[in-house]
Amino acid sequence: LDGSPAPPSAPAWRAAAAATELSAAPVGVFDSGIGGLTVLRALRDELPGERFTYLGDTARLPYGTKSPATVARYAVQAADALVEYGVKCVVVACNTACALGLQAIRERVAPVPVIGVIEPGARAASNATRSGHIAVIATEGTVRGGAYQEAIRRLRPDARVTAVATQLFVALAEEGLSEGPVAESVIGHYLAPLYATAPMAPDTLVLGCTHFPVLATAIRNVVGPQVRIVDSAATTARVVRAELAAAGLSREGGQGEVQFLATDGAERFARVGSRFLGAPIAPEEVDLIDL
Ligand code: DGL
Repeated sequence: LDGSPAPPSAPAWRAAAAATELSAAPVGVFDSGIGGLTVLRALRDELPGERFTYLGDTARLPYGTKSPATVARYAVQAADALVEYGVKCVVVACNTACALGLQAIRERVAPVPVIGVIEPGARAASNATRSGHIAVIATEGTVRGGAYQEAIRRLRPDARVTAVATQLFVALAEEGLSEGPVAESVIGHYLAPLYATAPMAPDTLVLGCTHFPVLATAIRNVVGPQVRIVDSAATTARVVRAELAAAGLSREGGQGEVQFLATDGAERFARVGSRFLGAPIAPEEVDLIDL
């Protein structure tokens, strides 16, 4: 990424800002695929008057098993595409892209505001924990990147963070196996050892991957009722609201419509994505684009 030419998108964005009422522009949201629809769901609840443009890089997912350089490159391309679509801010609704590419995205699309999911998730966990022992479950890339561990320790230097890569949870969620014996057996395989050590076990568990909120009931059944389960979607939505308001970019009184973009498989995006969004998506609503 170093030495790449000046971003073509930033001048376009500035021109759009000058020519139009930027507050009417959509909020851009992207993920490696459909998982970020859990964040879009929270954004729509928090900001019912906003328009959204959601991009899922379904042709290249998963990001969670790829190298940091590749994830950063893909993430920058996705953010660039959203800016070309005229968004007023970019929400990186993918923990892996956020862990490995947030800085590169910010540099590339400046002055467009960029909001990630990790900092809000780390803040929610730091506020929730009593014992200071926090577990983070995420993709391999997010765990290896260490962004959650760093963000939590910045907020709570006394915290002990145990990060566990649970890549298989992504497949469970996509297969629709979000509850029942198969889900609980896989979840138990990864998490039971951590929770067998009570009272030393983490009292707070961060769902550090956009796919995991759909597994929340099965995760709860495995870890027990006393553990605080934190998901960054609602906290991120509140941060987006605050940042838009601070920048004078909020839109009130709109219809909350969503434009869906994907890089592959409109039918699968609509079918599996409806479960993540908690609302129906028709394949005809999904436009396929190249990055
Ligand atoms: N969206 C990714 C994340 O939140 C999970 C799926 C993937 O590995 O691409 O980390």
